[in-house]
Amino acid sequence: MNEEFKVTPWEVSGKVDYARLIEVFGTEPIDDKLLERWKRITGSVPMALQRKIFFSHRDLNWILDLYEKGEKFVLYTGRGPSGNTHLGHLMPWMFTKYLQDTFDVPLYFQMTDDEKYLSRDELSIKDTLGFSYENALDVVALGFDPKKTFIFSDLEYNKTLYRIAIEVAKRLTFSTAKAVFGFDNSTNVGMIFITSMQSAPAFLPSVERGKNVPVLIPHAIDQDPHFRVTRDIAPKLGYYKPASVHCTFLPSLAGSDKMSASKPETTIYTTDDPKTARKKVLSAFTGGRVSVEEQRKLGGVPSVCAIFQYYYYLFEEDREKLNAREQKCVRGEIMCGECKQELAGRVVSFLERHQEKREKAKEIIDEFIVSDYSAAYDKLKRPQDKKEVAKLKKSMKEYCSVKEGDRIQIKKTKELE
Ligand code: TRP
Repeated sequence: MNEEFKVTPWEVSGKVDYARLIEVFGTEPIDDKLLERWKRITGSVPMALQRKIFFSHRDLNWILDLYEKGEKFVLYTGRGPSGNTHLGHLMPWMFTKYLQDTFDVPLYFQMTDDEKYLSRDELSIKDTLGFSYENALDVVALGFDPKKTFIFSDLEYNKTLYRIAIEVAKRLTFSTAKAVFGFDNSTNVGMIFITSMQSAPAFLPSVERGKNVPVLIPHAIDQDPHFRVTRDIAPKLGYYKPASVHCTFLPSLAGSDKMSASKPETTIYTTDDPKTARKKVLSAFTGGRVSVEEQRKLGGVPSVCAIFQYYYYLFEEDREKLNAREQKCVRGEIMCGECKQELAGRVVSFLERHQEKREKAKEIIDEFIVSDYSAAYDKLKRPQDKKEVAKLKKSMKEYCSVKEGDRIQIKKTKELE
């Protein structure tokens, strides 16, 4: 790949050239024709598509073809819970929420806490499980439909995912994994398996329903290598290849790279208290000149300005207002201080509202979480009908491969005590 930037599932650095990524990864650009089609089907084009924040896809037209014929798809996305959620993570999730509302479809949401345990030296299993919960609160706070949204952690849902994962793993050679992900002899062996775990939810809806279900995965472009593998293997297992739609990265407040959890000063977390968030915005990198006089004379440079990017990506939906702001800046009619203050106000009120919803999410999160324990426990606990219980015990037995006469053991977890 181009030397000036790097985009892999575990590292994004430099100034990303997205047009080049489309070429290198071999995806399709989201062009005007597709946007017109989108408008025809849904009635409008959301900001994320208009502004090319979601800029690339695989097989989106196929998903729309099926949808127009009356066959609905399922959404799948996820999060690697390595820390608190920041605004950059919310972008694809908000778009996913828009997709759920617009097409009225279910969402499977994977927390790859196993992956983050394996890929981050400093994190324990307890840490990543904890972040699965914390991050899930942010997902729930965005307002997904509890009846149609299933959030699961790999560590807590592995029994369900594992069978699909090993079907994938059997068809993925070490040599391919090395070529796609750049693994070498010092890579821990767990990492070699995790792409199979990430493939599993793309096939889970088909496994559950006993027929092929089309899946659309909204995700940041850095995850594409995983889904190239998934798509490669899908037909070998008799499943549809999942389609996908890809977003760019929200730049950091330092004005370059993506907003990264490892640089807390230039990253706004959903859990930041408003005062801290305000301070971060006020110390952001701008496209301003060295002095007010210079700026009045020469104008600012919005294209390199972190503050302008925040308006563009998240905080100014109105296209005309955004253009007016840009023009004023270029003409030297607005100073950076004013622009920052205004953005800080918007960020703070967003955070206040989000944090309220995040608190409420704690009361309803159980409605969203699926785990092996909850599924098994629910099934055995709920039905009153003896025949139904016998049937479920039999299928549980088959599922767990317990020998005739053995007692089925369900591991107790905190939630069951
Ligand atoms: N590996 C992803 C990450 O580190 C998390 C993830 C799992 C994901 N499944 C996904 C992201 C599906 C997007 C779509 O962030």
